[in-house]
Formats: sequence, C-alpha cells, structure tokens
Amino acid sequence: MDLRIAKSPEETAKEFAEYLIQQHEKTDVLHVALSGGSTPKILFDLLATEFKMAIDWNRIHLYWGDERCVQPTDDESNFKMTQDRLISKVAIPEENIHRVKGETNPDEEAARYSSEIEKHLEKKNGLPVFDIIILGMGSDGHTASIFPHEIELLESDAICAVANHPESGQKRVTLTGQVINAAKSVCFLVTGEGKKEKVREIIKKEDSASDYPAAHIKVNDGELIWFLDDSAAAELN
Ligand code: 6PG
Repeated sequence: MDLRIAKSPEETAKEFAEYLIQQHEKTDVLHVALSGGSTPKILFDLLATEFKMAIDWNRIHLYWGDERCVQPTDDESNFKMTQDRLISKVAIPEENIHRVKGETNPDEEAARYSSEIEKHLEKKNGLPVFDIIILGMGSDGHTASIFPHEIELLESDAICAVANHPESGQKRVTLTGQVINAAKSVCFLVTGEGKKEKVREIIKKEDSASDYPAAHIKVNDGELIWFLDDSAAAELN
C-alpha cells in the first residue's frame, strides 16, 4: 500500500494533481472516476487554476464513483460541485463528461450508467477498467456510496448499484467493489483529523477495519495509493 502524506489538504491535492498528470502523460485517453463530498473541492479548484494548462482536457473523460439521486442543480449533487469548481472552468468537451443522471429513477439510472461505462471502457476479466478512480472515505469508513450497512455492495456483480445513505435514506448510484478493485489505479484522497482513527484502523489492518468498506479496496492488478494530509495520518506513526 502506497502512502503519500502531505502537510495540508492543499499539499495533498497538489500531490494527487501531479500524479494525475504523470498518469495522463502515459496514456492517450485517461478515464477517471471522481469522488464527491467536500474533500475533492480543493483538488478541483487546483485543476481549474494552477494545473489547468498542464492537462489536455480533450484526452480526459470524467465519470463519478457515486452520485446522489438528486437534480444536477441541487447543492447535494456531486456533478454540480464538479461543474461549479472544475468543468465550467476548463475546455473539456461535453462528450467527455459522463454524468450520473441523479434526477432519474435510481434503478434505471444504475443500469444506464453501467452501460455508459461499458461503452467507453476496456474490459479485463469481464469488468470495465478505469485508469484512475478517486475515492473519499467517510468518518464511518464508507467509500463511494458503499456504506457499512450495505457492505455487500462490495461483492455485487453489477457495475453500478443503488445505495441508501444510512442516516438520511438518500438514494445514491455507486460503483460496486468489484469495479473499483478492477481499476488500474485507485487513489484515496483523505484529509482532516475526523478521519484519523479510521485511517489508522485500515492502514494498520486492525480487526475493527473489516466493518469498513474502505478497508476492502484492494485493487486486483493495479496500484492503491492513499493520499493523506498530516491530520488524517496523525495516528499512523
Ligand atoms: C459522496 C462521496 C463520499 C465521500 C465521503 C467523504 O458522494 O459523499 O463520494 O464517498 O467521498 O463521504 O466525504 P467528505 O470528503 O465530504 O469527507
């Protein structure tokens, strides 16, 4: 497991941005699944400013690892957050944006999005292969929208599944564990002291970690990198 620890959320985002550019230089087209929530906001701001000209936006396709089943104009929407902070600020072709349609029926959208992914990605062992999947981790150890109470979504045969937020009951469309683990590269971006206990339990492979979906991301043939800031990594040394 590759740990890359930086002193602040800004430095962590910069470390990842530099990694993304390195990977981009190795391939013609890069297919990247984005995480949602608040952590990636700093990264998207950076990609839209300091790193904007370092990326050929014609050769990158954006997907989402999970999306809330809300309108794309809703402040809860991961697409809206990405649109506001990144997509609206860079010259990425519309056909390179593969949005989960959170406004439609969740079950139908999970099936449609699975087909969208299959249409654009190469397969290996029957699973679509993303070049990079960016993941966050919740303070309960969830990742994408695979929550502890629905940990079986890690083993689902589907490419995408419908998940339910444990507190709000909000429906989500999420990549399943098998597709995440089939990626060439999975990069956790986890910052802030609120995550430090779960990070320690997962990285040190403590028994309690088996309840956390994020602990089960092992990546079959690719690389697994944890991009952390000092606060999230505070209990590792
Ligand atoms: C989402 C995310 C989710 C997120 C974690 C961490 O849709 O909320 O994809 O998996 O990455 O909940 O969220 P924060 O970055 O806000 O802590």
